[in-house]
Amino acid sequence: MTADFPLHRTTRPVADDERAAALADPGFGKHFTDHMAAATWTPEDGWHDRRVGPVVPYSLHPSAAVLHYAQEIFEGLKAYRHADGSVWLFRPERNAARFAASARRLTLPVLPEEDFLASVEGLVRADEAWVPAAGGEQSLYLRPYMFASEAFLGVRPAHRVEYGVIASPAGAYFGSGVVGVTLWISAEFTRAAAGGTGAAKCGGNYAAGLAAQLEAREHGCDQVLYLDGAEHRWVEESGTMNVALVTSAGELVTPQLGTILDGVTRASVLDLAVEHGLTPVQRPISVVELAEGCASGSITEVFAVGTAAVITPITGFRGPDLSITVGGGAPGATTLALRAHLLDIQHGRVEDTRGWLRRVV
Ligand SMILES: Cc1ncc(COP(=O)(O)O)c(C=O)c1O
Repeated sequence: MTADFPLHRTTRPVADDERAAALADPGFGKHFTDHMAAATWTPEDGWHDRRVGPVVPYSLHPSAAVLHYAQEIFEGLKAYRHADGSVWLFRPERNAARFAASARRLTLPVLPEEDFLASVEGLVRADEAWVPAAGGEQSLYLRPYMFASEAFLGVRPAHRVEYGVIASPAGAYFGSGVVGVTLWISAEFTRAAAGGTGAAKCGGNYAAGLAAQLEAREHGCDQVLYLDGAEHRWVEESGTMNVALVTSAGELVTPQLGTILDGVTRASVLDLAVEHGLTPVQRPISVVELAEGCASGSITEVFAVGTAAVITPITGFRGPDLSITVGGGAPGATTLALRAHLLDIQHGRVEDTRGWLRRVV
């Protein structure tokens, strides 16, 4: 049965010229569309009050559980306009599954996949005018989330939970030409430990990462590369992206799942690797292997993968006692080819032979 998120259209949409100005230079996360999808959960009624309506602020009691105990999760995916005007989502079922897994870890109610898909699709249809035109790398970023809204103090799973989806047009991540980033390997901070919440997409993980992010910036780096919490020796992931490397032996290697996020882009790149003559491998990568491999040339390229930036070349790593240059310091050919391939699938410029796209409009 398809869940229904009935549309209550806003009577006060953003003016056409204002929307056109936002779409002309969307940036990321700066402009929001006219509508949001929402539903509420209580133990008595389960998920109810499904709707797509105007974007409205929440009114929360100061004791609302999320404000104190961070019982919150979110997702991120994009809608892409193709040249014929149609609009598509990229592997949204994987986001629905990950959202359910995150909910289980945070003891939030699981939102059924059909509700996840119906809410996202309902919002995209309502705000179709906000999906950027085909032809470039622009898209409509979708942000589903869920949080504990019950008013009470005490550490237990909340009895009232809000689900929502908002949308924001996203520009090309790289304005002119893909440039490489440098990652900071912190000696102090870690992101996750076995048994923790590393594999869940919960807000608390990102709050805890802000200090490491600041440390990276202070050292002139763009992002953090987290190592494992137990030995501080194994490569895990970046702040908002998974990482992978290419070896001279023709492998595409990425750390195995466990304490990292099960990225949709990571899974997709592992799948595409074979078409690029690479053997996909998921195994531990130590910092020593990373440093020695980049120095000897046995590691030829390193890149980060995620919905926002698609594929970003990593051209160097820095740490308190560490400086690694990757492949001469410029983006690698395989990285750029994989990036173009994935974008071409998402934007409908090559055939979707794997059934990854789901049509909305
Ligand atoms: C910590 C972290 N790792 C990896 C990713 C990449 O995941 P995806 O490819 O599903 O966007 C993200 C982004 O969601 C993230 O926040």
